[in-house]
Amino acid sequence: MDVSSATALAHPNIALIKYWGNSDDEWTIPANGSISLTLGGLFTRVQVTVDKALIQDQLFLEGEVASEAAQVRVRQFMDHVRRFSGKQMFCRIESTSNFPRGSGIASSAAAFAAMALAAAKVYGLPTDPCELSRLARLGSGSACRSIYGGFVEWIAGIDHQSSYAIPLAPKDYWDLVDCVAVVSTEHKAVSSREGHRLAKTSPLQPCRVQTASQRIERCRRAILERDFGQLAQVVELDSNLMHSVMMTSQPPLFYWRGETLIIMEEVRRWRNQGQPVCYTVDAGPNVHVLTLAAHAEWVREKLSQIAGVKGVIVAAPGEGAVLV
Ligand code: DP6
Repeated sequence: MDVSSATALAHPNIALIKYWGNSDDEWTIPANGSISLTLGGLFTRVQVTVDKALIQDQLFLEGEVASEAAQVRVRQFMDHVRRFSGKQMFCRIESTSNFPRGSGIASSAAAFAAMALAAAKVYGLPTDPCELSRLARLGSGSACRSIYGGFVEWIAGIDHQSSYAIPLAPKDYWDLVDCVAVVSTEHKAVSSREGHRLAKTSPLQPCRVQTASQRIERCRRAILERDFGQLAQVVELDSNLMHSVMMTSQPPLFYWRGETLIIMEEVRRWRNQGQPVCYTVDAGPNVHVLTLAAHAEWVREKLSQIAGVKGVIVAAPGEGAVLV
């Protein structure tokens, strides 16, 4: 049955094996598969409401009319929803998050995962996770992973039908924790969207893409065997490879700051001393430090003592997208 309004909630995710660059930008078909952990505690709630008076969709972020760039991105997503459903109505879309923008945790994954679910409900589209994952991907690539909780793999595929995420292990499978060391809350100068387009200009991208399936395999095995040592090796390698591509694109993208490098070095030092820790860095300067739940408080304390660290956000594995 069609409804005129639906609200859904989804969590962000941190990529353990990164998505960077597309084989098809228009349909967000990634150049390589990726693996992520959905982050609990942090969420974005999206309400989609049909409004017959509207002649285009209206997006509100935290109760305020969103920027033109954000409106355009959401309208393009909703155009896909209209095309798939054959229904032409426009909607008011209200999005609120319990974590700040610029906190080093991408809000677009949680927002488009929640929007896909709420919009599918309103437009009468299928709401099985595989279909939702495909739909969410059209809003933001990494959003296709936030449809599921716990440990998730995005199968790259070659077209819309074959590119979607699948669950690898539920959230309680392994008590990993992400401690995000926030060194900057500034909005990033170059968006992920722009970065994905630049990836193919790096001479290192073909090598990164060709070897991605080996890292996917190693990462999947490390998760399933709960082998932190193996996970640490492959997660840091994959993050370093993505940043090597970023730094060698035309024009080059340098997301790291001095503090980013200092934290990465500290994490390696702690690991050499026997702590189960490793780092991964997305398209920004903040450092995601992964550890086991029993060590999270120690890691949070140590990170907050580093000069330049403005705060530490601690997130344990979370659930997939749900209607509320
Ligand atoms: C570095 O999914 O945010 O976080 O599709 O343009 O929204 P868009 O890109 P997005 O890119 C994520 C890039 C990354 C790595 C990852 O999450 O896999």
